[in-house]
Amino acid sequence: MAVTRTFSIIKPDATRRNLTGAVTKMLEDAGLRVVASKRIKMSREQAEGFYAVHKERPFFGELVDFMISGPVVVQVLEGENAVKRNRDVMGATNPADADEGTIRKTYAESIEANSVHGSDSDENAKTEIEFFFDEDEIVG
Ligand code: RTP
Ligand code: MG
Repeated sequence: MAVTRTFSIIKPDATRRNLTGAVTKMLEDAGLRVVASKRIKMSREQAEGFYAVHKERPFFGELVDFMISGPVVVQVLEGENAVKRNRDVMGATNPADADEGTIRKTYAESIEANSVHGSDSDENAKTEIEFFFDEDEIVG
């Protein structure tokens, strides 16, 4: 299987509870390598741009407010079949539906404050990585 990249965000509910290390450990234990990482405070414009695909959804405004409510950690993850591997360890969007042992089952507070984001396709991963990182910030 090919080694690929995906894009991850440790969301404000997790950084607020000092869970950056704990979440990252679950990603690493799942076979993913953090090849780029930075802690940022997203601007409203960045959050609106990042979640533009959801702009017609009823939760869009609240989602943007949540994503700018505190710092986030944006990461590039590398591993075999990275998108699926990451989605599997993240668990379902709603923590009530997430499997035992997943990040969202373990740490998420709600369907919105669900601790992590992960790209849902190789194509979106590339777009999302380029949204936050220059190629020279990804160091392997
Ligand atoms: P993500 O994009 O963050 O990895 O999560 P996902 O694919 O599992 O979920 P998606 O459908 O793409 O939704 C993006 C984020 O919006 C928030 N959300 N709120 N209030 C609601 O009903 C609701 N539904 C989704 C969550 O933060 C979700 O991760
Ligand atoms: Mg999504």
